Amino acid sequence: MKIKNIIIKLCLILVFTFSSTSIVYSKDVIKIGTLLPYSGVYTVLGEEITNAMILAFDEVNNSINGHIIELIKGDTEVKPNIALQKARKLISSDKVDILVGPVSSSVALAIRDIVVQSKTPLIIPNAGANVLTGKKCSKFITRISFSNYQINAPMGTWLAEHGIKSAFLLAPDYAAGKEMMAAFKITFEEAGGKILGEEYTPFRKTKDFGPYLARVKSSGADAVYVFYAGGEAINFIKQAYSFGLGEVMKLTGAGWTTSPLFIPAQKEAAIGFIGSLNYVPSINTDANKNFIKAYKSKFGRAPSEFAVQGYDSGKVIIEAIRSLSGSIKDKDKLAEAIRTISITGPRGPLTIDPKTNNVIQNIYIFEVVNGEQGPELKVLDTIEAVKAPGEGCNL
Ligand code: BEZ
Repeated sequence: MKIKNIIIKLCLILVFTFSSTSIVYSKDVIKIGTLLPYSGVYTVLGEEITNAMILAFDEVNNSINGHIIELIKGDTEVKPNIALQKARKLISSDKVDILVGPVSSSVALAIRDIVVQSKTPLIIPNAGANVLTGKKCSKFITRISFSNYQINAPMGTWLAEHGIKSAFLLAPDYAAGKEMMAAFKITFEEAGGKILGEEYTPFRKTKDFGPYLARVKSSGADAVYVFYAGGEAINFIKQAYSFGLGEVMKLTGAGWTTSPLFIPAQKEAAIGFIGSLNYVPSINTDANKNFIKAYKSKFGRAPSEFAVQGYDSGKVIIEAIRSLSGSIKDKDKLAEAIRTISITGPRGPLTIDPKTNNVIQNIYIFEVVNGEQGPELKVLDTIEAVKAPGEGCNL
């Protein structure tokens, strides 16, 4: 009798173990950790990227090859030390399969080593720090957004060729601000332009641009070349307008400064700004029109380049996992699949440069003009298939 009971118990354990394994299998998840700002100066950028990634996942009913997509959010707060803690948690405790982030170059530099050492595939949906697809590149890091050089270098040449002989540089005092100004300076000076001064404003802390605007104005430059994003972009453009800077010199810079995400708050103050970006809403393709329509209907407003980068990140994840028929546990294979995927998104066909893992893309030079629905980006020129130089990267 005793032996019979033991056998019954063993059978029950076997049945339970078998059925619970199959339950786990049928509910298998792919964990995607975000390292994005959900608080701080770049909050709206983080939200926009996340929204659009969710849109891409909705299109496949939140499931890829039988894996339910689980999104685990990590708020970087745009602070490198906080982001590193969040990265550790996502990698070691949550055991995410893929990371998506960050927005800020400084944050990206802070999390780079832990990502590479833990072999966690990272898709960068914004942060432009040059070295991440340069001498600190890795097959585990794929950037589908841009490098800081890639967006700003074309502007130096273009502005010099369009009558701007001198410029004053102004940007936040952190990696991205410094790299963007340096990229512009190289090509602007190569084309014969002169830099009359440069200033770097305390990042996340500058609310009053008045003293900087006064020094920019007194430089007598033909143009000010700036980079700002988030709340800083809104404040800078509004204050430059009230100050009348646009009446004495041309306002130019990295295009995020007047992103479609910030223009609704900047209103007429953004008119006349000349900038460069990797996406403009007027791209005339079905993929772009469908994306804009879907984003508007889900989130009630038009998407920006940040949303495009989030959406493309989601698409790349979907296609990479499909190409592996859903087998995601081998991190080397997953990283390889991510970096070799090609998709057609709102920007057009998306190609990753195999030498650097940085996206190759068109750069649009635009002016903010008064359109039928208010200020909009009018394309002045398209520089096709721009690559990041990727110096020191040997992939
Ligand atoms: C960056 O820190 O790399 C960055 C932030 C906002 C817009 C563009 C670049």
